[in-house]
Amino acid sequence: MPLFKDMLKSEESLFRDEIALDYDFLPKNLPYRDKEQKYIAQCIFPLTQKRNGKNLLVHGLPGIGKTAAAKYVIRDLENETEEVIPLYVNCWKKNSTFKIITDFCDQLGFKFVQNKTKEELFDMIVKELNKKSAVFVLDEVDKLEDYDILYLLLEDVYRKTIIMITNYRKWVLELDERIRSRMNPEMMEFKAYNSEETKGILKHRLGYAFVPGVWEDDAFEIAAAKTAELNDIRQGLYILKEAGLAAEAESSRKINTEHVKKALAKIEDYHLKQPTDLEDEAKQILDIIKDNNSKKIGDIFNLYVASGGNISYKSFQRRINILEKEKFITVIKTQGGEEGNTSIIKLSQTKKLTEF
Ligand SMILES: Nc1ncnc2c1ncn2[C@@H]1O[C@H](COP(=O)(O)OP(=O)(O)OP(=O)(O)O)[C@@H](O)[C@H]1O
Ligand SMILES: [Mg+2]
Repeated sequence: MPLFKDMLKSEESLFRDEIALDYDFLPKNLPYRDKEQKYIAQCIFPLTQKRNGKNLLVHGLPGIGKTAAAKYVIRDLENETEEVIPLYVNCWKKNSTFKIITDFCDQLGFKFVQNKTKEELFDMIVKELNKKSAVFVLDEVDKLEDYDILYLLLEDVYRKTIIMITNYRKWVLELDERIRSRMNPEMMEFKAYNSEETKGILKHRLGYAFVPGVWEDDAFEIAAAKTAELNDIRQGLYILKEAGLAAEAESSRKINTEHVKKALAKIEDYHLKQPTDLEDEAKQILDIIKDNNSKKIGDIFNLYVASGGNISYKSFQRRINILEKEKFITVIKTQGGEEGNTSIIKLSQTKKLTEF
Protein backbone atom coordinates (compact mmCIF):
# COMPACT_ATOMS: atom_id res chain seq x y z
CA MET A 1 0.00 0.00 0.00
CA PRO A 2 1.53 3.34 -0.96
CA LEU A 3 1.67 5.30 2.25
CA PHE A 4 3.26 8.57 1.33
CA LYS A 5 2.02 9.04 -2.20
CA ASP A 6 -1.32 10.53 -1.17
CA MET A 7 0.20 12.56 1.58
CA LEU A 8 2.70 14.11 -0.76
CA LYS A 9 0.21 14.66 -3.55
CA SER A 10 -0.36 18.28 -2.71
CA GLU A 11 3.11 19.67 -2.88
CA GLU A 12 2.25 23.09 -1.60
CA SER A 13 1.93 23.35 2.12
CA LEU A 14 -0.84 25.43 3.67
CA PHE A 15 1.74 26.69 6.12
CA ARG A 16 4.04 29.49 5.24
CA ASP A 17 5.92 29.38 8.52
CA GLU A 18 4.76 26.83 11.05
CA ILE A 19 7.22 28.15 13.62
CA ALA A 20 5.02 31.23 13.98
CA LEU A 21 2.54 29.00 15.80
CA ASP A 22 5.10 27.82 18.36
CA TYR A 23 4.44 28.90 21.91
CA ASP A 24 7.72 30.70 22.30
CA PHE A 25 7.64 32.47 18.95
CA LEU A 26 7.90 36.19 19.58
CA PRO A 27 6.08 38.17 16.90
CA LYS A 28 7.38 41.63 15.89
CA ASN A 29 4.71 43.38 17.92
CA LEU A 30 2.68 42.45 20.92
CA PRO A 31 -0.66 44.16 20.41
CA TYR A 32 -2.99 44.95 23.34
CA ARG A 33 -0.20 44.79 25.88
CA ASP A 34 1.25 48.30 25.48
CA LYS A 35 0.20 49.40 28.93
CA GLU A 36 1.72 46.35 30.59
CA GLN A 37 4.97 46.60 28.65
CA LYS A 38 5.26 50.26 29.57
CA TYR A 39 4.76 49.45 33.22
CA ILE A 40 7.48 46.81 33.16
CA ALA A 41 9.78 49.26 31.38
CA GLN A 42 9.08 51.91 34.03
CA CYS A 43 10.22 49.53 36.77
CA ILE A 44 13.49 48.98 34.90
CA PHE A 45 14.07 52.55 33.76
CA PRO A 46 15.87 53.87 36.89
CA LEU A 47 18.61 51.30 36.19
CA THR A 48 19.54 53.18 33.04
CA GLN A 49 20.26 56.22 35.24
CA LYS A 50 22.41 54.26 37.67
CA ARG A 51 19.63 54.19 40.24
CA ASN A 52 17.96 51.16 41.74
CA GLY A 53 15.02 49.64 39.88
CA LYS A 54 11.68 48.45 41.21
CA ASN A 55 10.72 44.84 41.67
CA LEU A 56 7.55 43.56 40.07
CA LEU A 57 5.23 40.62 40.48
CA VAL A 58 3.34 39.91 37.27
CA HIS A 59 0.36 37.61 37.65
CA GLY A 60 -2.51 36.35 35.52
CA LEU A 61 -4.09 33.32 33.87
CA PRO A 62 -2.13 31.00 31.55
CA GLY A 63 -1.56 31.91 27.92
CA ILE A 64 -2.27 35.63 28.00
CA GLY A 65 1.09 37.15 27.13
CA LYS A 66 2.95 37.54 30.43
CA THR A 67 6.10 35.79 29.26
CA ALA A 68 5.87 37.36 25.82
CA ALA A 69 5.53 40.88 27.27
CA ALA A 70 8.51 40.44 29.59
CA LYS A 71 10.66 39.08 26.76
CA TYR A 72 9.64 41.98 24.59
CA VAL A 73 10.69 44.55 27.11
CA ILE A 74 14.02 42.82 27.56
CA ARG A 75 14.62 42.65 23.84
CA ASP A 76 13.95 46.36 23.58
CA LEU A 77 16.20 47.11 26.52
CA GLU A 78 19.04 45.14 24.93
CA ASN A 79 18.64 47.18 21.76
CA GLU A 80 18.87 50.45 23.68
CA THR A 81 21.59 50.00 26.27
CA GLU A 82 24.45 47.80 27.37
CA GLU A 83 24.45 49.20 30.86
CA VAL A 84 21.66 46.92 32.07
CA ILE A 85 22.23 43.17 31.89
CA PRO A 86 19.06 41.12 31.46
CA LEU A 87 18.86 37.56 32.73
CA TYR A 88 15.75 35.49 32.01
CA VAL A 89 15.11 32.11 33.58
CA ASN A 90 12.15 29.77 33.58
CA CYS A 91 11.94 28.42 37.13
CA TRP A 92 9.96 25.41 36.02
CA LYS A 93 12.97 24.27 34.04
CA LYS A 94 15.54 25.60 36.51
CA ASN A 95 13.81 25.10 39.80
CA SER A 96 16.61 25.42 42.34
CA THR A 97 19.05 28.10 43.38
CA PHE A 98 21.95 26.02 42.12
CA LYS A 99 20.39 25.44 38.69
CA ILE A 100 19.63 29.13 38.33
CA ILE A 101 23.13 30.14 39.31
CA THR A 102 24.62 27.76 36.73
CA ASP A 103 22.19 29.05 34.13
CA PHE A 104 23.16 32.67 34.85
CA CYS A 105 26.84 31.68 34.49
CA ASP A 106 25.97 30.25 31.10
CA GLN A 107 24.13 33.39 30.05
CA LEU A 108 27.02 35.55 31.18
CA GLY A 109 29.41 33.41 29.16
CA PHE A 110 31.52 32.21 32.09
CA LYS A 111 33.86 29.39 31.26
CA PHE A 112 35.45 26.79 33.53
CA VAL A 113 32.61 26.66 36.03
CA GLN A 114 32.69 22.88 36.62
CA ASN A 115 34.76 22.63 39.75
CA LYS A 116 33.44 25.67 41.50
CA THR A 117 31.01 25.71 44.41
CA LYS A 118 27.64 27.43 44.35
CA GLU A 119 29.05 30.24 46.48
CA GLU A 120 32.04 30.78 44.21
CA LEU A 121 29.84 30.87 41.15
CA PHE A 122 27.45 33.32 42.75
CA ASP A 123 30.36 35.58 43.71
CA MET A 124 31.48 35.60 40.08
CA ILE A 125 27.98 36.56 38.96
CA VAL A 126 27.65 39.34 41.50
CA LYS A 127 31.03 40.78 40.62
CA GLU A 128 30.08 40.93 36.97
CA LEU A 129 26.60 42.35 37.53
CA ASN A 130 27.72 44.98 40.00
CA LYS A 131 29.88 46.58 37.33
CA LYS A 132 26.59 47.55 35.71
CA SER A 133 23.00 46.86 36.74
CA ALA A 134 20.72 43.87 36.14
CA VAL A 135 17.18 42.82 35.34
CA PHE A 136 16.17 39.36 36.43
CA VAL A 137 13.07 37.77 34.98
CA LEU A 138 12.06 34.76 37.06
CA ASP A 139 9.29 33.22 35.00
CA GLU A 140 6.98 30.61 36.62
CA VAL A 141 8.54 31.72 39.88
CA ASP A 142 6.10 29.68 42.00
CA LYS A 143 7.82 26.53 40.73
CA LEU A 144 10.99 27.35 42.66
CA GLU A 145 11.90 24.61 45.11
CA ASP A 146 13.91 26.93 47.32
CA TYR A 147 13.93 30.68 47.63
CA ASP A 148 17.61 31.25 48.49
CA ILE A 149 18.21 32.74 45.07
CA LEU A 150 15.75 35.55 45.83
CA TYR A 151 17.51 36.37 49.07
CA LEU A 152 20.93 36.29 47.42
CA LEU A 153 19.91 38.57 44.56
CA LEU A 154 18.19 40.99 46.92
CA GLU A 155 21.14 41.19 49.24
CA ASP A 156 24.14 41.14 46.94
CA VAL A 157 23.24 42.74 43.62
CA TYR A 158 23.27 46.51 44.10
CA ARG A 159 21.19 47.86 41.26
CA LYS A 160 18.49 45.58 39.98
CA THR A 161 14.90 44.90 39.05
CA ILE A 162 13.51 41.48 39.82
CA ILE A 163 10.50 40.62 37.71
CA MET A 164 8.61 37.56 38.92
CA ILE A 165 5.92 35.97 36.79
CA THR A 166 3.29 33.61 38.15
CA ASN A 167 -0.28 32.43 37.70
CA TYR A 168 -0.88 32.80 41.43
CA ARG A 169 -0.96 36.28 42.85
CA LYS A 170 -0.87 34.93 46.35
CA TRP A 171 2.36 33.10 45.81
CA VAL A 172 4.12 36.10 47.28
CA LEU A 173 2.49 35.33 50.63
CA GLU A 174 4.47 32.11 50.82
CA LEU A 175 7.70 34.05 51.01
CA ASP A 176 9.72 34.40 54.13
CA GLU A 177 9.20 37.76 55.80
CA ARG A 178 12.91 38.58 55.34
CA ILE A 179 12.57 38.15 51.60
CA ARG A 180 9.21 39.85 51.36
CA SER A 181 10.27 43.00 53.14
CA ARG A 182 13.37 43.32 50.97
CA MET A 183 11.47 42.52 47.80
CA ASN A 184 8.52 44.84 48.24
CA PRO A 185 7.30 44.29 44.68
CA GLU A 186 4.86 46.29 42.63
CA MET A 187 1.96 44.09 41.57
CA MET A 188 0.60 43.93 38.05
CA GLU A 189 -2.24 41.77 36.84
CA PHE A 190 -2.51 40.71 33.23
CA LYS A 191 -6.23 40.54 32.46
CA ALA A 192 -7.50 38.01 29.94
CA TYR A 193 -8.06 39.35 26.42
CA ASN A 194 -11.63 40.05 25.35
CA SER A 195 -13.00 38.27 22.29
CA GLU A 196 -12.13 41.10 19.87
CA GLU A 197 -8.55 41.17 21.10
CA THR A 198 -8.29 37.39 20.95
CA LYS A 199 -9.48 37.46 17.38
CA GLY A 200 -7.05 40.23 16.49
CA ILE A 201 -4.09 38.32 17.92
CA LEU A 202 -4.98 35.09 16.14
CA LYS A 203 -5.60 36.88 12.86
CA HIS A 204 -2.22 38.52 13.13
CA ARG A 205 -0.50 35.20 13.83
CA LEU A 206 -2.37 33.59 10.99
CA GLY A 207 -0.77 36.10 8.66
CA TYR A 208 2.70 34.90 9.63
CA ALA A 209 1.92 31.22 9.77
CA PHE A 210 -0.31 30.42 6.78
CA VAL A 211 -0.35 31.00 3.07
CA PRO A 212 -2.79 33.90 2.44
CA GLY A 213 -6.36 32.87 1.72
CA VAL A 214 -6.24 29.26 2.92
CA TRP A 215 -8.49 29.86 5.92
CA GLU A 216 -12.24 29.94 5.27
CA ASP A 217 -13.80 32.80 7.23
CA ASP A 218 -16.32 30.77 9.18
CA ALA A 219 -13.63 28.27 10.14
CA PHE A 220 -11.47 31.03 11.56
CA GLU A 221 -14.45 32.50 13.41
CA ILE A 222 -15.04 29.21 15.21
CA ALA A 223 -11.36 28.88 16.13
CA ALA A 224 -11.29 32.45 17.48
CA ALA A 225 -14.54 32.03 19.43
CA LYS A 226 -13.30 28.85 21.08
CA THR A 227 -10.00 30.52 22.00
CA ALA A 228 -11.87 33.43 23.58
CA GLU A 229 -13.96 30.96 25.54
CA LEU A 230 -10.82 29.21 26.80
CA ASN A 231 -9.17 32.57 27.58
CA ASP A 232 -5.85 31.21 26.41
CA ILE A 233 -3.98 32.29 23.27
CA ARG A 234 -1.70 29.26 23.53
CA GLN A 235 -4.70 26.98 23.05
CA GLY A 236 -5.76 29.15 20.12
CA LEU A 237 -2.41 28.69 18.41
CA TYR A 238 -2.77 24.97 18.94
CA ILE A 239 -6.20 25.00 17.32
CA LEU A 240 -4.89 26.92 14.30
CA LYS A 241 -2.02 24.51 13.86
CA GLU A 242 -4.04 21.34 14.31
CA ALA A 243 -6.72 22.58 11.91
CA GLY A 244 -4.00 23.28 9.35
CA LEU A 245 -2.54 19.83 9.81
CA ALA A 246 -5.99 18.22 9.53
CA ALA A 247 -6.54 20.04 6.24
CA GLU A 248 -3.14 18.98 4.95
CA ALA A 249 -3.79 15.38 5.94
CA GLU A 250 -6.72 15.47 3.51
CA SER A 251 -4.68 17.32 0.91
CA SER A 252 -7.28 20.06 1.14
CA ARG A 253 -6.33 23.48 -0.20
CA LYS A 254 -8.59 25.22 2.27
CA ILE A 255 -9.00 25.01 6.02
CA ASN A 256 -12.71 24.65 6.72
CA THR A 257 -15.00 24.23 9.72
CA GLU A 258 -14.60 20.45 9.66
CA HIS A 259 -10.86 20.78 10.13
CA VAL A 260 -11.37 23.17 13.02
CA LYS A 261 -13.81 20.74 14.60
CA LYS A 262 -11.16 18.05 14.46
CA ALA A 263 -8.73 20.37 16.19
CA LEU A 264 -11.33 21.18 18.84
CA ALA A 265 -11.95 17.51 19.49
CA LYS A 266 -8.25 17.20 20.29
CA ILE A 267 -8.47 20.06 22.74
CA GLU A 268 -11.46 18.47 24.47
CA ASP A 269 -9.59 15.21 24.71
CA TYR A 270 -6.74 17.01 26.30
CA HIS A 271 -8.87 18.95 28.74
CA LEU A 272 -10.97 16.04 29.80
CA LYS A 273 -8.08 13.89 30.78
CA GLN A 274 -9.20 10.85 32.67
CA PRO A 275 -7.81 9.97 36.09
CA THR A 276 -6.47 6.79 34.50
CA ASP A 277 -3.96 8.95 32.65
CA LEU A 278 -2.43 10.10 35.89
CA GLU A 279 0.55 8.47 37.48
CA ASP A 280 -0.18 6.21 40.47
CA GLU A 281 1.03 8.68 43.07
CA ALA A 282 -1.24 11.45 41.85
CA LYS A 283 -4.15 9.04 41.57
CA GLN A 284 -3.67 7.93 45.16
CA ILE A 285 -3.67 11.56 46.28
CA LEU A 286 -6.76 12.27 44.22
CA ASP A 287 -8.56 9.36 45.90
CA ILE A 288 -7.80 10.83 49.31
CA ILE A 289 -9.06 14.24 48.23
CA LYS A 290 -12.22 12.61 46.91
CA ASP A 291 -12.97 11.28 50.41
CA ASN A 292 -11.88 14.49 52.11
CA ASN A 293 -13.12 17.36 50.00
CA SER A 294 -12.27 20.94 51.03
CA LYS A 295 -9.60 20.05 53.55
CA LYS A 296 -6.32 21.80 54.22
CA ILE A 297 -3.31 20.68 52.19
CA GLY A 298 -1.44 19.67 55.37
CA ASP A 299 -4.32 17.42 56.44
CA ILE A 300 -4.42 15.75 53.04
CA PHE A 301 -0.68 15.19 53.25
CA ASN A 302 -1.03 13.58 56.70
CA LEU A 303 -3.77 11.30 55.41
CA TYR A 304 -1.59 10.43 52.46
CA VAL A 305 1.31 9.52 54.74
CA ALA A 306 -1.02 7.53 57.02
CA SER A 307 -2.18 5.54 54.01
CA GLY A 308 1.41 4.48 53.32
CA GLY A 309 2.50 7.27 50.97
CA ASN A 310 6.20 8.00 51.15
CA ILE A 311 7.02 10.99 48.98
CA SER A 312 8.29 14.21 50.60
CA TYR A 313 6.03 17.18 51.24
CA LYS A 314 7.68 19.10 48.37
CA SER A 315 6.99 16.28 45.93
CA PHE A 316 3.47 16.02 47.33
CA GLN A 317 2.95 19.71 46.62
CA ARG A 318 4.13 19.14 43.06
CA ARG A 319 1.52 16.41 42.59
CA ILE A 320 -1.08 18.81 43.92
CA ASN A 321 0.09 21.37 41.34
CA ILE A 322 -0.25 18.78 38.60
CA LEU A 323 -3.74 17.79 39.71
CA GLU A 324 -4.67 21.45 39.66
CA LYS A 325 -3.16 22.03 36.22
CA GLU A 326 -5.05 19.01 34.94
CA LYS A 327 -8.18 20.56 36.43
CA PHE A 328 -9.01 17.66 38.74
CA ILE A 329 -8.93 19.94 41.75
CA THR A 330 -8.88 23.60 42.62
CA VAL A 331 -6.53 25.00 45.23
CA ILE A 332 -7.74 27.94 47.24
CA LYS A 333 -5.08 29.83 49.15
CA THR A 334 -6.41 31.38 52.34
CA GLN A 335 -4.78 34.06 54.39
CA GLY A 336 -5.57 34.82 58.03
CA GLY A 337 -9.07 33.84 59.16
CA GLU A 338 -9.89 30.63 60.95
CA GLU A 339 -7.57 28.45 58.90
CA GLY A 340 -4.56 30.77 58.92
CA ASN A 341 -2.33 30.80 55.84
CA THR A 342 -2.91 27.56 54.03
CA SER A 343 -4.30 25.98 50.89
CA ILE A 344 -7.70 24.34 50.77
CA ILE A 345 -8.02 21.53 48.26
CA LYS A 346 -11.35 21.16 46.51
CA LEU A 347 -12.50 18.63 44.00
CA SER A 348 -13.08 20.37 40.70
CA GLN A 349 -16.71 21.02 39.89
CA THR A 350 -16.07 20.91 36.17
CA LYS A 351 -15.49 17.17 36.35
CA LYS A 352 -18.37 14.88 37.06
CA LEU A 353 -17.89 13.02 40.31
CA THR A 354 -18.85 9.81 38.56
CA GLU A 355 -15.67 10.17 36.49
CA PHE A 356 -13.55 9.40 39.48
N1 LIG B 1 -0.87 40.30 22.53
C1 LIG B 1 -0.36 39.25 21.91
N2 LIG B 1 -0.01 39.30 20.60
C2 LIG B 1 0.53 38.25 19.96
N3 LIG B 1 0.75 37.06 20.54
C3 LIG B 1 0.41 36.93 21.83
C4 LIG B 1 -0.16 38.01 22.58
N4 LIG B 1 -0.38 37.58 23.85
C5 LIG B 1 0.01 36.29 23.89
N5 LIG B 1 0.49 35.90 22.68
C6 LIG B 1 1.02 34.59 22.34
O1 LIG B 1 0.31 33.60 23.09
C7 LIG B 1 1.19 32.59 23.55
C8 LIG B 1 1.11 32.49 25.04
O2 LIG B 1 1.62 33.67 25.61
P1 LIG B 1 2.64 33.65 26.84
O3 LIG B 1 3.56 32.50 26.68
O4 LIG B 1 3.24 35.00 26.98
O5 LIG B 1 1.60 33.35 28.01
P2 LIG B 1 1.76 33.47 29.58
O6 LIG B 1 0.82 34.52 30.04
O7 LIG B 1 3.21 33.61 29.92
O8 LIG B 1 1.20 32.04 30.04
P3 LIG B 1 1.67 31.05 31.23
O9 LIG B 1 1.17 31.67 32.50
O10 LIG B 1 0.99 29.76 30.92
O11 LIG B 1 3.16 30.97 31.15
C9 LIG B 1 2.58 32.95 23.03
O12 LIG B 1 2.82 32.26 21.84
C10 LIG B 1 2.47 34.44 22.78
O13 LIG B 1 3.37 34.87 21.78
MG1 LIG C 1 4.58 32.22 30.65
